Amino acid sequence: MNTPTLTQLFPADDQIPVAYRIEPVHQREYLINGEMRQWDGPTTDVYSQIGAPDADGTIKPRLVGSFPVGTEKEAMEALDAAVAAYDNGRGEWPTMSVAGRIACMETFVGKMLEQKQRVVSLMMWEIGKNLADSTKEFDRTVKYIYDTIDALKDIDRAGSRFRVEEGIIGQIRRAPLGVVLAMGPFNYPLNETYTTLIPSILMGNTILFKTPKHGSLLHYPLLEAFRTSFPKGVVNSIYGRGAVVVPPIMQSGKVNVLTLIGSSKVADELQRHHPKLNRLRSILSLDAKNAAIVLPDADLDVAVNECLLGALSFNGQRCTAIKIIWVHRSIADRFLEQFSRAVSALKLGMPWTDGAQITPLPEPNKVDYLNDTIRDAEAGGATIMNEGGGDYAGSLFKPAVVYPVKDGMKLYRDEQFGPVVPVVAYDDVEAFIEYLETDSHGMQASIFGTDTKPIADLIDPLVNLVCRVNINAQCQRGPDTFPFTGRKDSAEGTLSVEDALRSFSIRTCVATKETEANKTILNTIVGEHQSNFLSTNFLF
Ligand code: G3H
Repeated sequence: MNTPTLTQLFPADDQIPVAYRIEPVHQREYLINGEMRQWDGPTTDVYSQIGAPDADGTIKPRLVGSFPVGTEKEAMEALDAAVAAYDNGRGEWPTMSVAGRIACMETFVGKMLEQKQRVVSLMMWEIGKNLADSTKEFDRTVKYIYDTIDALKDIDRAGSRFRVEEGIIGQIRRAPLGVVLAMGPFNYPLNETYTTLIPSILMGNTILFKTPKHGSLLHYPLLEAFRTSFPKGVVNSIYGRGAVVVPPIMQSGKVNVLTLIGSSKVADELQRHHPKLNRLRSILSLDAKNAAIVLPDADLDVAVNECLLGALSFNGQRCTAIKIIWVHRSIADRFLEQFSRAVSALKLGMPWTDGAQITPLPEPNKVDYLNDTIRDAEAGGATIMNEGGGDYAGSLFKPAVVYPVKDGMKLYRDEQFGPVVPVVAYDDVEAFIEYLETDSHGMQASIFGTDTKPIADLIDPLVNLVCRVNINAQCQRGPDTFPFTGRKDSAEGTLSVEDALRSFSIRTCVATKETEANKTILNTIVGEHQSNFLSTNFLF
């Protein structure tokens, strides 16, 4: 229901706190081959769903800026720059010492930190993420970069020694793969773009990156930091409609790694454009429908709090969000009563509103979609359990707990990616296991219970259906040193601070027979520091 009470939460211009007002950012440049190139072609306007209320109560999205709509021509120029900078592995960047690459990255982080306020502000306006979470996303990304640098040092140290086996002396290190095309999602536009981009660069690859449709402008302040921190062509930006600019890049066959955090549909389509699939490595984090199960003996306070966080942090717009909750029928009423109360108590507001947990959704048609899933469930006999659930104004949507959700309803299988929480009642845990077996996703699951035996009985089948089983805890990616991956349509490859460095590189070795002459050759190369790869330099 469209409600006037929610409409009042949208501020007129003079009600926006001075600290959070924004001057529209009109980006007219982009980074290719170490140059900020001027753009005088078509642009796309960026509207924030933190809209302004009209006299008649309609919420009108606010213009917060615009950015280039690049064409195939600029996309191919970006590709050429990345290919030239890699130069078949002979470029300055792929042959640079690890210490040299780390030094460039440290320069970059320093410059990135100078842009924190602008990035956080744009994140709030572009995707509606609240101030605390936007700040956290920035800080988490900086920490991720430092942790990645430390992990790379460890990998490099391990590779700095020779191995002698079966009369063969070898040095094994990780080497880059080539040109990486990276694309991030709107919900973590900075963090998730950087969790692939940063390790790729550090391992010596060169990059083309495409910013997400929502959350694109916030990358603009960082382009100059990339330009001045890395050799030309190492980092290149692509702007334009994905369907126009990305296929030709893939069709060129010059992309060695596709890394995308987004939908499996897009990933499948893009991979298909590559003429030599065996040459393409894909590191993907895709769709998910993480399910929680609340066992009859669960501590309800824990289950309710964790399901609340899991299902509704950032309005449920996390790939790791709990997107369906299975509750044992014997405790369903008690769970629903407590959970619904907690959901209705969540504070709605603008991203800067103190304590606001539910904020405007960035996708213009999302409210219609969410309403559609609710109407569909109602038609099948479900109802909204929490007071005010499903009320909305503009794109501010009060979370709805929908029960009982059953097979055949959209909410049973769709990844709703928003503030609607489907709850299913079950009698036998087998039904839950069968749901996961027949689902096309396989990222994470949560088990809530206190008795160890039923928990253990679920762990064993679940670990082979998803890639992280959380006990009495919400689903989540962090800590970032833990593996982040999935089965079926949920992922390909593994991300984490260390895994990402491995994903974006390949083990390569230099080997020789253990003869006196060869030992002298190795000793001379190493002793005189003639090679960056063949070296025993120890990184401190
Ligand atoms: O959208 C997916 C994010 O990687 C989730 O990260 O679990 O830390 O919110 P998170």
